[in-house]
Amino acid sequence: MKRVLTSDVIKYPGKKIKAQGWVHSIRFHGKIIFADLRDKGGILQLVFGPQNKALYKLSKELKSEWVISVIGEIKNRPKNMINSKIETGKVELLVEELEILSKAKTMPFPVDSPGYEINEEKRLKYRYLDLRRERMRKNMQVRQEVIKFMRDFLQERGFLEIETPMLTKATPEGARDFLVPSRLEPGKFYALPQSPQQYKQILMVSGIEKYFQIARCLRDEDPRADRQAEFTQLDIEMSFIEREDILSLVEELTVSLIKKLFPEKKIAKTPFPRLSYKKVMEKYNSDKPDLRKNKKDANELAFAFIVDFPLFKWKKGEKRWDSMHHPFTTPVEENIEKIKAKPGKILSHQYDFVLNGVEIGGGSIRIHKPELLEAIFEILGHKKQEIREKFGHLLEAFEYGVPPHGGIAPGIDRFLASILGEPNIREVIAFPKTGENKGLMMGTPAEVSKDQLKELHLKVEKSHRKK
Ligand code: AMO
Repeated sequence: MKRVLTSDVIKYPGKKIKAQGWVHSIRFHGKIIFADLRDKGGILQLVFGPQNKALYKLSKELKSEWVISVIGEIKNRPKNMINSKIETGKVELLVEELEILSKAKTMPFPVDSPGYEINEEKRLKYRYLDLRRERMRKNMQVRQEVIKFMRDFLQERGFLEIETPMLTKATPEGARDFLVPSRLEPGKFYALPQSPQQYKQILMVSGIEKYFQIARCLRDEDPRADRQAEFTQLDIEMSFIEREDILSLVEELTVSLIKKLFPEKKIAKTPFPRLSYKKVMEKYNSDKPDLRKNKKDANELAFAFIVDFPLFKWKKGEKRWDSMHHPFTTPVEENIEKIKAKPGKILSHQYDFVLNGVEIGGGSIRIHKPELLEAIFEILGHKKQEIREKFGHLLEAFEYGVPPHGGIAPGIDRFLASILGEPNIREVIAFPKTGENKGLMMGTPAEVSKDQLKELHLKVEKSHRKK
């Protein structure tokens, strides 16, 4: 007999069906045993009566989270037993056959609550169980729907989705790189991408014109509520455009996405306000102001674009200028001598995308003149030789006909956490890391064998080896 998902059982009143899933809960009512069966579709009430002795005996053994298969008739529930809270609340399955497919140990925590009250380290260690809870399942579902909407929206507008390498060279995005040692070239390393920034710009040289990618980014930084070492961006780049083309594209995508997937939400203001960095710093003392009228209203979404950022910020500790965004961002002023004379005064074509006080995206119009890019790298403190070694590929690519271009990258994890009202981005990521960048379920990072180290020409200093 073919299995029927619990979400479909209402189509089978009076019919005999087979259902399979987990025992969500069990209740004993006199001689009758009620069990809730849970599968990916939802929950279905099972009823075991004492008529069939062998079946009844077996059903008494059932425990939470055992995996079972049942066959029986779908019956309408008596009126006073209807549960309007669940989709299948009008029916129940009168079990005629029961098979136990797999038993389960006592659970480390319950999975029938939203789970916020449970110790998070425990939840992450047993993430496969934590993902059984309805809230987490819904978050994964919504994540997929949001990503699908973004894909469809951009593909319909002529964007091409291109995957870029994970084994690459460092791209400065302000964080530390994760490095991967090369086996074939001793002493050399790949860097995992902090973002696909340089590849997407190079794709503009290739004439792609409209690129996007649901891009995994890796940055070796200390995780926080809105930061993970691994995260996902909707990475976008376009040629022959101006700032407003990118902002209005992102605005149209966002407004239509909210309308379709989150109709209960209210967008505070459209068009999204475009506010200058100077103005918001003066007024809110923050470059990601929370513009909601009523901060207690869970359904209010106040989007804004912050524009006209300074090109550089002064890094006190290192006594040097650093990019406010990244070095590929174009200055408003193109006169190299003027930039060198007053770096702190120069504005840039950087923009940030802000939602309810969270920076959910960032981007810029790029420098496409090789000599200007070289000058910026010099102001940032790079030596000529070093610029050639690190970024020679980009400078060379720009010598073969580069269109003016720009882009943006909304962070999908932050966007989702904000919209879903989750307290941190770990709640919208299937397998996030802890504050110390540990993967508690798999036990990462982990030691490797001596042979693996040898093959990679690596030696771990004695003091760091496990005692
Ligand atoms: P930026 O570094 O500003 O820009 O990142 C863009 C957006 O990505 C998200 N984000 C993160 N999310 C979770 N964890 C992190 N550690 C993390 N770091 C960043 C944020 C942020 O706004 N290449 C440029 C984009 C461009 O210029 O087109 C870039 O990555 O939501």
